[in-house]
Amino acid sequence: MNPAATPAYTEPHRLQVHFSPPSSWMNDPNGMVYAQGEYHLFYQYHPGSTVWGPMHWGHAVSRDLLHWEHLPVALEPDALGAIFSGSAVADPDNRSGLGDGHTPPLVAFFTYHDAEGERAGRSDYQTQGLAYSRDAGRTWIKYPGNPVLPNRAGIRDFRDPKVFWHAPAGQWIMALAAGDRVQFFQSPNLLQWAFTGEFGAGYGSHGGVWECPDLFPLPVDGGPEERWVLLLSINPGGPNGGSATQYFTGHFDGQTFICDGPPEQVRWMDYGPDNYAGVTWSEVPDGRRLLMAWMSNWDYGQQVPTSPWRSAMTLPRVLSLRRIGGEVLLCNAFPEELAALRADPQPLQTALLAREDFAALPLPYPAAPAELELSFGLETADAHPVLRLSSPEGHQVLIGYDAARGELYIDRSCAGPADFSAKYPGIARAPYRAGAVLRLHAVLDTGSVELLADGGAVSLTALYFAGAPLTQLSAGMLAGQGRMLEGSAWRLRSIWQAG
Ligand code: FRU
Repeated sequence: MNPAATPAYTEPHRLQVHFSPPSSWMNDPNGMVYAQGEYHLFYQYHPGSTVWGPMHWGHAVSRDLLHWEHLPVALEPDALGAIFSGSAVADPDNRSGLGDGHTPPLVAFFTYHDAEGERAGRSDYQTQGLAYSRDAGRTWIKYPGNPVLPNRAGIRDFRDPKVFWHAPAGQWIMALAAGDRVQFFQSPNLLQWAFTGEFGAGYGSHGGVWECPDLFPLPVDGGPEERWVLLLSINPGGPNGGSATQYFTGHFDGQTFICDGPPEQVRWMDYGPDNYAGVTWSEVPDGRRLLMAWMSNWDYGQQVPTSPWRSAMTLPRVLSLRRIGGEVLLCNAFPEELAALRADPQPLQTALLAREDFAALPLPYPAAPAELELSFGLETADAHPVLRLSSPEGHQVLIGYDAARGELYIDRSCAGPADFSAKYPGIARAPYRAGAVLRLHAVLDTGSVELLADGGAVSLTALYFAGAPLTQLSAGMLAGQGRMLEGSAWRLRSIWQAG
């Protein structure tokens, strides 16, 4: 089916403020690049099926990071293989020679996956290919010299190229997942690539294969100090099972990445089960580091009860580095663009919450999609505030913080259908110790919770499948005493429907 065909976006569990394809299977975001006023989003796509298969790059564009226009499939499999994940850049000085001398070409890098080679028992069935566009990403020409990076060492998992320009070295850099390592390559012209280094042995989590690297500098607390951030998605081995994205901070010298933390340290960009393969946009004009991730998990993503499509992306996230308690941590925020979707603001009043029940305080709530910003004062060491989203029929999602255990969580076990996969965990947990006040910022869609605590120092993303719309919100305490402090709730306008 042509994904540009108009979809209804009114199906059960269809998210209303998140990107999803009109129909068929989607996984990772790919080729994210800003050019000529448009944010491009390509994505792993299997047209005509709601499970993974020979991969194409689907395509959509947005001017505000929220509303998306579906475009025809950009890249299709060819004789070298299916089109796996990758990235795209603009080549303003036409170093590649692929431009027409007027507008900078867009150059996309992807992994060719040769399924026949894999079946035949070869180990070099993943190679890196290139395609370019001279018409603002509308059509793509595969480079005749593909693959631009063959797999000489025969590494079975050799994929997901992330390319960027590194001014100090005067070179293009490619970060590539290679087994459970990242390899780095340099190129003067995007066409010839030379290996320069490798990172990963003994560092971080190795519970599964490493996928979808990203590497970029960010200021610490707004600057002038700067650190490089290396993102790596890992599957399986995530903190709540299955897929998740870890990160490292350190230094990049143009050749390799040098981590500034102890090798055994493991840090998660998001603890939730449904934030995977996240990478960032290239060439964002205002310098923000904007990430988007696949909001699902390889453990059960192909079984979730949606039709005729499967999977959505997270909201775009603005990444930053903040020094917190002596550590430099990667923080998530929702983009300021989101405010344009807000409607019907509801102030939330301060109220004492003593242990009674977990729904003691009904709150004004416009029903999903909605945004919440509120704080809890934690007055005893065992304080355990919860927010309960529920349906009149009793389905519920709980968002809670258990001070005694030092844990932030989303409990979706009683939301509705959960029996489609034994690997779909009911409770998503993040270890976290709040101070005297816990600040929460959440976007609640019709089937997802993106929860940021304390300015995004902790992020937890989880899907849910509601048995009936969760139209009610209340706050309460499961233990201890605390106070709901001032806050706001907003209805968010659907990005797919008028109103
Ligand atoms: C991550 C991933 C990538 C690969 C793509 C295939 O989810 O496994 O490593 O390129 O999906 O669709």
